[in-house]
Amino acid sequence: MLKDIVDVLADPIDRSPLRGADDYSRLVSETGHSYDVARQGYVTLASGAGLNHEGDSADMVTARELFLSQGHFAPFVETVTERVADAVEKSHAEEPVVLEVGAGTGYYLAHTLDSIEGSRGVGIDISTPAAKHLAKAHGRLGAVVADVWEGLPLRDASVDALTVIFAPRNPAEFARVLTDEGEAVILVADSGHLDELREPLGILGVEGGKLERLLEQTRGHLEQIGEPELLEFPIRLDRDSIAAQVGMSPSARHVDPAELRESIAALPDHMEVTAKARLLRFRKA
Ligand SMILES: C[S@@+](CC[C@H](N)C(=O)[O-])C[C@H]1O[C@@H](n2cnc3c(N)ncnc32)[C@H](O)[C@@H]1O
Repeated sequence: MLKDIVDVLADPIDRSPLRGADDYSRLVSETGHSYDVARQGYVTLASGAGLNHEGDSADMVTARELFLSQGHFAPFVETVTERVADAVEKSHAEEPVVLEVGAGTGYYLAHTLDSIEGSRGVGIDISTPAAKHLAKAHGRLGAVVADVWEGLPLRDASVDALTVIFAPRNPAEFARVLTDEGEAVILVADSGHLDELREPLGILGVEGGKLERLLEQTRGHLEQIGEPELLEFPIRLDRDSIAAQVGMSPSARHVDPAELRESIAALPDHMEVTAKARLLRFRKA
């Protein structure tokens, strides 16, 4: 709930501290700006201009919820949680704050919060349909709609660990909000991820050079800890899971739905597909 994390939130206009008002129906800043809390429990923290980028649609969020609930990405969620738990242990914080940027449905953050006693979660996403899910994902999670490119509505040095799983990154902001001991755990899809689906369905593959771009972006802001870790495992998908996987991915915006339904119907009952990503850890430079 927002109550649990309001002490780390900041006014997106001037970064002054926020507090709950009128029984947490609004958050107000020291400088007098007011942000309504939606009845579903999330708050939109955007500067006056509003949000410029479009996040995942309601259909994409529903597809993501369905796919992840089937446990296909369990090795991803377990490894991310372990790395965050290690980072938080080093921080010695009693109620460590874990931030997930581009948190989607909250699947990863909720799992991490369950595993780390006393931890508190901030889930940020630009998508309002995602924020509605996020707000319900865990009792110790506060959901915020914000644009990571615009900046994070968080106080300086307020976050013990942050995660980004297949979502956009703003390394300068990550360095600003992390504590001195804090760590960023970033999962990036690797070339070959779900490749077996690409040709039969005519969907987008993972573009090359993602890792190199991430390292370039972080230069001067974040310093890598250790080497990137390869996470690779097979998953067995039926046609419904394949439809959900495509529905939650950027391909959902690029493929004609009728053509996609036809291509999926032509697939075998089950397919074995490779999940492949690299996990990187960083601290403030
Ligand atoms: C591929 S999804 C990953 C969601 C979640 N991390 C997961 O793996 O289930 C990317 C997420 O980033 C969000 N997103 C896209 N652009 C964003 C931005 N500029 N600021 C914040 N979130 C953004 C999308 O709405 C979406 O929920």
